[in-house]
Amino acid sequence: MPVWRIALGGNNRQSQPVETIALTYLQGHARFNGRIRQQFSRNKSVPLASHHQLGIQMKLQNKVAIVTGAATGIGQAIAIRFAREGASVVIDYVGNSSAADQTMNEIKSFGGKSIALAADVSKPDQVQNLIDSTVKAFGRLDIVVNNAGIETKHAFVDFPFDEMQKILAVNLIGPFLVSQAAARQMIKQGDGGRLINISSVHEDLPMPTNAPYCASKGGLRMLARTIAVELAKDKITVNNIGPGAVYTPIDADIQANPELEKALMAEIPLSRWGKPEEIAGLATYLASDEAGYVTGSTYFIDGGMMRQSGSL
Ligand code: BGC
Repeated sequence: MPVWRIALGGNNRQSQPVETIALTYLQGHARFNGRIRQQFSRNKSVPLASHHQLGIQMKLQNKVAIVTGAATGIGQAIAIRFAREGASVVIDYVGNSSAADQTMNEIKSFGGKSIALAADVSKPDQVQNLIDSTVKAFGRLDIVVNNAGIETKHAFVDFPFDEMQKILAVNLIGPFLVSQAAARQMIKQGDGGRLINISSVHEDLPMPTNAPYCASKGGLRMLARTIAVELAKDKITVNNIGPGAVYTPIDADIQANPELEKALMAEIPLSRWGKPEEIAGLATYLASDEAGYVTGSTYFIDGGMMRQSGSL
């Protein structure tokens, strides 16, 4: 194991042994840690140390997590972050396995534990197989992130029936089925668990031409609140994350159209896209032991979009 010596930023520019850095981190100096990492990235001759190398306590050590739709976008960022925090991660995907394999290989490249499993979250038998295969591979299940989601846009009066059904099946029935099968497993284990839904600002905010998507996210709002109450006695917490505009393939149409993108940025007080890694940070907190008293709510992470006052 190399001895890491880290140059500090700010007023404190001398080298510090790694133990001192780790201790300071554990004491919660998040900004200070940010400076360490900045310093690392400015000085290319010093490699970026992982939490493991720094001897820092990881937040999800020994936990087993399933992230649905984890091959790309927000799900992928969450899977990678959870693995960095010590969790064994199941990457659920549908269709072509190459993106899921890439995510899995990235996790393996830093010594993380991960497998990829194909399962359509809207199909009860595939969902049960996802849970059973997870337990077979890693022995238990502690955390589920219901991230898989789709959207297509049409005027309400023209919305095709099959597209509407598909959106509700993946975005709402999926989290219902996966949470139900996961909760049964967690209750059997007897020591609690974490259910996290990746919802949207559109839990609350209307979005014309996106009625089924908005209905699915509004449904997730009450699904989470209701099962949070039912599952509290089993120490299973249930929370939603409501992202705003995050730079992922789901918004490829807006990213390709400067005018649309400008209009979207005008809706966001912080005036930028969110990053998938920022959503992963909040998911990590909600999945961790630190969040044991947090249940039944939605946490918006949207650059202020929910509070934008329009023309005022
Ligand atoms: C939707 C995006 C939209 C964003 C902000 C997300 O839930 O998937 O299409 O840009 O909300 O409106």
